Amino acid sequence: MGAAHEAFEMFRTMAPRQRSDILRRSYDLMIERLDDLALLMTLEMGKPVVESKAEITYAANFFRWYGEEAVRIDGRYSVNESGAGRMLTMRQPVGPCLFITPWNFPMAMGTRKIGPAIATGCTCVVKPAKQTPLSMLMLGEILEQAGCPAGVVNILTASSSGQIMEPLIRDRRLRKLSFTGSTEVGRRLIEQGAEQILRVSMELGGNAPFLIFEDADLDAAVDGAMIAKMRNGGEACVAANRFYVHESVASEFADRLAARMGQLKVGRGTDPDVNVGPLIDEAQRSKVAELVDDARNRGATIAVGGERVDGPGYFYAPTVVTDVPDDAAFLKEEIFGPVAPVRSFSSEQDVIRWANDTEYGLVAYVYTQDINRAFGVIEQLDTGMIGLNQRLVSHAGAPFGGVKASGYGREGGHEGLHEYLQTKYIALNIP
Ligand code: SIN
Repeated sequence: MGAAHEAFEMFRTMAPRQRSDILRRSYDLMIERLDDLALLMTLEMGKPVVESKAEITYAANFFRWYGEEAVRIDGRYSVNESGAGRMLTMRQPVGPCLFITPWNFPMAMGTRKIGPAIATGCTCVVKPAKQTPLSMLMLGEILEQAGCPAGVVNILTASSSGQIMEPLIRDRRLRKLSFTGSTEVGRRLIEQGAEQILRVSMELGGNAPFLIFEDADLDAAVDGAMIAKMRNGGEACVAANRFYVHESVASEFADRLAARMGQLKVGRGTDPDVNVGPLIDEAQRSKVAELVDDARNRGATIAVGGERVDGPGYFYAPTVVTDVPDDAAFLKEEIFGPVAPVRSFSSEQDVIRWANDTEYGLVAYVYTQDINRAFGVIEQLDTGMIGLNQRLVSHAGAPFGGVKASGYGREGGHEGLHEYLQTKYIALNIP
C-alpha cells in the first residue's frame, strides 16, 4: 500500500495523454501476445484455449476503451440559480485502490478495474485469486513494458487472502475497494471497508433467469442459451442459471438444448477439439454434482449429462435438467457449472415473479420478438443488466453490474470511470 500511496502523488498529475498511451500500449502488447497469454490462462485455470483468447481480447479492450477515455475527463461550469455566483465542479481521482479479482476471468476482471484506475490517475494494489496468480503477473509485466511507472499497479499474490486483506482494507491510505467474487465474501469486505468509509464497488453472485416466450425465434434462443450457459463452462456470474420457457415451446427447446449440450466435447483446454474444460477444483465440482443430485432426488429428469466425467481434471458433463420442481436448490443458488435447469411457464406474470424470486439481481436474458412485451417484461425485472435476444451482455463500453445481493457499482463504460473519480465543487463569488 505504501508503494501505491507514494506513486499516487506523481500519477495523479501525469498528463492524461501519457496515461492514455500506457493503456493503448498495454492493449497492443496483449493482442501481440495473445497466443502466449491464452496458453498460460488455459494451463492455469482450464478453459479451452479459444475461450482464453476470447477473454484476453475482452480484457485488452478495457485498456483500449479506457485509454480513449483518459483524455476526456471533464468538469462543469454553471450559473447559480440566483444569477449571483458561479459553480464549478472538477473530477479528481479517488486515490489508492485495492482490487480483489476472481479466478474465472483472471485477466478481464483485472483490466476492467485497472483500466479506469489508470485512466483517472489512481494507483492500486491487485490481489488475484490464489488459483490464478500467473495471468495477473503476466499482465503486470505487460503494464511495466508499456511504461506504467513503478508503484502504480502492485500485484500481491497470496494463498490465504483473509490474513493479508484485512490489514490492507483497514490501511488509512486506501481510498477505494473493488471486489469481484462471491456475495458471501463481498458482505465481509463491505463490513471491513465501512470502518474508514471506503468507496466500494462489488460485483457479486448471480442467478440469471433466461426467459423464452412463445413468440421467440427458437433457433436464436437455443444458440443464445448455449453461449449464455456454456461460456467459460458455466463458471461465470452472468451464466444463465435458470431457463424459463413458455409451455408451448418448452419441450422442443429442452430437446434441442439437450442435443446441443450432448455434442460438446469435455476435456483438457489445450486440446483444440475440446469445447468444455474442467471446473476449477474438486470443491466446485462437488457443489455442481450436489445441486444436480438434489434436483434428481426431488423428481427432476436428467435429459443429458448429470454426472462427473473421468479424466485428469475436475470434469462434469454438460447437463440439462427438466421437470424441475419448485424447491430444487439450483433455482435459488448460483450453479457455476455446465448445468441448465429448464422449467415451463404459462403466464407472463408468473415468469416475472419467478425470475425476481431470488436474492440476486445481476442479469436476465429475454427472448421474444414482440417489442411491447419485451419492454413490459424488462421494466419489471430486478436486475442490473438485460440481454434482449442477446446472449452476451459483457463488453468494455457497457456498465456491467447488479442490484440486490449481486452488488453495486458498475464496471466498464462511462459509469465504470465515475467509480474512480470524486467530485469537488467550487463556489465562485462572481456576480
Ligand atoms: C463474471 O463472471 O464475473 C464476469 C463475466 C463477464 O464479465 O462477462
